Amino acid sequence: MGTQAPVITVDGPSGSGKGTVSRLVAWRLGWHFLDSGALYRLVGLAALQHGISLEDEQPLGQLAGQLDVRFESDGGVDEGRIMLEGVEVSAEIRSEQVAAAASRVAALPAVRDALLGRQRGFCRAPGLVADGRDMGTVVFPGAQLKIFLTASQQERALRRYKQLKEKGIDVNLVTLLDEIERRDARDGARQAAPLRMADDAILLDSTVIPVEQVVDRILELWQRSGLAGHHSS
Ligand code: DC
Repeated sequence: MGTQAPVITVDGPSGSGKGTVSRLVAWRLGWHFLDSGALYRLVGLAALQHGISLEDEQPLGQLAGQLDVRFESDGGVDEGRIMLEGVEVSAEIRSEQVAAAASRVAALPAVRDALLGRQRGFCRAPGLVADGRDMGTVVFPGAQLKIFLTASQQERALRRYKQLKEKGIDVNLVTLLDEIERRDARDGARQAAPLRMADDAILLDSTVIPVEQVVDRILELWQRSGLAGHHSS
């Protein structure tokens, strides 16, 4: 694994901006992109659709292993279309209901194991930017560059607040902050692949650096690593 094409991993909590950042880095480098959170969301959605209990680990593991998904990208910076069993579910997987289901299935080792090979399969020339929680620790431990992107809980709550407001959803900032605190505690405490920074990851904080500068910083780190020329196709 990991010898044929270089990998940059971007891990961190939700709301840190890692989705936007890693998508932009992939686009600027002309590399492939893995949104691993989308895979967990797809398993969650498929479980809801097939009426599989979110506690039933073995059938959920099987479902994750056989999941018929396709990420259709036109090579642009946008997300593209996400297909589950031939049906577009790009918007549906972003709902709160699916997020909650994703978070439950993501805690199950059988599901995580089943998705491992599929995630590694995204690593193809000329390179991969992988966005998630355990990209640098579990899925691509040999990645050439590992970033851990964070932001303060207040900042992340504020971003989520603005996002929901834009969608016309009325929410309370204090409630959002409370949810984020609880989710961080749960993500960090769960047994299977808890959110933690890899020992060899570089910590960046998007509370103090705007997203565009985080992107530039990662590209600069990649150029400086001395591997950029070596791996360019
Ligand atoms: O990043 P996101 O909100 O789309 O992730 C959806 C869920 O999947 C969330 O509960 C965290 C989990 N997840 C995970 O456990 N490991 C990953 N590599 C990516 C996401």
